[in-house]
Amino acid sequence: MTVKAKGLDHVAIAVKDLDKAIPIYRDALGLELAEVEVVAEQHVRTAIFGHGMGRVELICPTDNDNGVARFLEKRGEGLHHICIEVEDIHAALAALKARGAPLIDETPKMGAGGAQIAFIHPKGTAGVLTELRQGTAKKEH
Ligand code: CO
Repeated sequence: MTVKAKGLDHVAIAVKDLDKAIPIYRDALGLELAEVEVVAEQHVRTAIFGHGMGRVELICPTDNDNGVARFLEKRGEGLHHICIEVEDIHAALAALKARGAPLIDETPKMGAGGAQIAFIHPKGTAGVLTELRQGTAKKEH
């Protein structure tokens, strides 16, 4: 079975201090800051650079009791996950499972903007937590 991806939707980088990291990405790397938001359910603040495919997201925990905070404690700042936009998330999950990749989400869940998302354990994707997304998050900027 083969599946088709549309490409890289975003990369997410875990940071300890969002307000310190934003000027580096915006002013020194020159990326357009599209949005800064608090995602209350996930206990993070995010800064999103760019629009459409290939966005860069900085994620910063707002308390100590969440996955991103534990990631920072264990591994320090750095690449947290990548997100691949696929045409058929169910087919992609089935293909990954058939190849023995451990899935964090066996079935897709609702992401921002009504997209379907699912996470693949880093053990199945060469050490990088990978998010699959079907349907682009449509937000007005
Ligand atoms: Co993501």
